[in-house]
Parts: sequence; C-alpha cells; structure tokens
Amino acid sequence: MRKVIAIDGPSGAGKSTVAKRLAAEFGFRYLDTGALYRAIALGLVNNGIREDASDETIRRALNDMKVEFTRGRVTLDGLDVEDSIRLPEIGHCSSVFSARGPVREHLMPVQKLAAENNDIVVEGRDMTTVVFPDAWIKVYLDASVEARAKRRFDQLREKGIEADMEGASRDVTERDERDSSRDIAPLRRADDALYIDSSNLSALEVIAMVKKACDKEAVR
Ligand code: DC
Repeated sequence: MRKVIAIDGPSGAGKSTVAKRLAAEFGFRYLDTGALYRAIALGLVNNGIREDASDETIRRALNDMKVEFTRGRVTLDGLDVEDSIRLPEIGHCSSVFSARGPVREHLMPVQKLAAENNDIVVEGRDMTTVVFPDAWIKVYLDASVEARAKRRFDQLREKGIEADMEGASRDVTERDERDSSRDIAPLRRADDALYIDSSNLSALEVIAMVKKACDKEAVR
C-alpha cells in the first residue's frame, strides 16, 4: 500500500527543506502543494481576476487552467512557472485565493492523483486534516515568528529577490493569520500529528525526528 508522509505548518517553518530531503532519502515522490496554490494564483492574476471576484468568475477562469507538479517544479498550462510563483506578490495572492472554494475544489483531485500510485511526501496547510487525513505519518512543523521571518528573508535573498526583515515578518504574520482563520480547510494542527517546533533545530534534527516516527510506525 502507498505511504503518505504529510507535513503541515505555517509559512517559513522549514517544511520544504525537510519534505524534499525526506523524499530523496526514502525514494518517495515529493509534492509541494503551496506551489500548486501559487501557480493557480498566478494564473488568476494573469487573467485579470481580482481578489474580490465572485466564485462563478473564479470557477470559469479555472476551467481552462492546468497545473502540474513534476520533478520538483510546477507548470501552469505546460509552462514552467517555478520562478515567478516565488515572488512575494504571488505569495500574498495565493494566500487570498486559496481561501476560495472553487480554488480548493480545483486542486483536490490534482493532489489526490499525485499520491494514487506513489509513496509520497506532501507538504502544505491541510495535508494532515483534509487531503490525506489517513496519512501514514502526520507532522505539524511549527516555529516562532522570528525564526520563520528570518528563513523567509534568507530564502528571498537567496533567490535574488529584494527583501527586508520587517517586510518578511509582516508577510509571514499576515499570511498565517489568513491561512489559519479562513472558513475552508484552515491551517490547524491535527490531533494525531507529531508536533515539532523547529525554531532552534536544524533541518537535519527535524528530519531525524520524522524518521524516528517512521521507524516506529514501520514496526507496528
Ligand atoms: O507553502 P506556500 O507558502 O508556498 O503556500 C502559499 C499559500 O498557499 C499559503 O499562504 C496558503 C496556500 N496553501 C493552502 O491553502 N493549502 C495548502 N495545502 C498549501 C498552500
């Protein structure tokens, strides 16, 4: 039977680094669901869809939109958009549009399909609670606002994107507030998820903790 390692948590908690490395070590597929939401947001923005558009308008725009995630990169209608989706404006729009029903409905089958015939490491906001509630391993990866802002700042700088600490801190705080308080599939910690606070841990230490949970589960 396929195995799903599901990791949820707020932005900047270190989910991507941990999920990617775990997938590589275990030989599992890797799915960054945030990239799917970002690509959809980019598509909607490119189509001139406003943040306050009706569900019907959004649904119609999504009808012709195809998002895929393969080998660590996301495509929108066949075009690689991995770089443009990382811009802070798209981060903001993805958080806004991801609260909308038609967007979540559109991406549900894409996520399920990725795990259909594959062992997989998935990361996002509702992996452990909504999309893969029966996942083999569930993790909630958290960190302080300061640690997350610092990571976000470093990531943007690394990609050559202009950033300052104050802006990074405002961005993670606003996004988490929105992602946690929305009506549909809000970010929350599943009761049976392993809780890890990564504020003072290295990626390797977090990975070791998740691997320990996998070992424990494997012998059950
Ligand atoms: O993980 P990320 O920062 O790339 O995600 C961008 C946005 O997408 C995030 O602010 C909320 C949304 N998202 C979501 O609603 N559900 C997911 N499973 C993943 C991301």
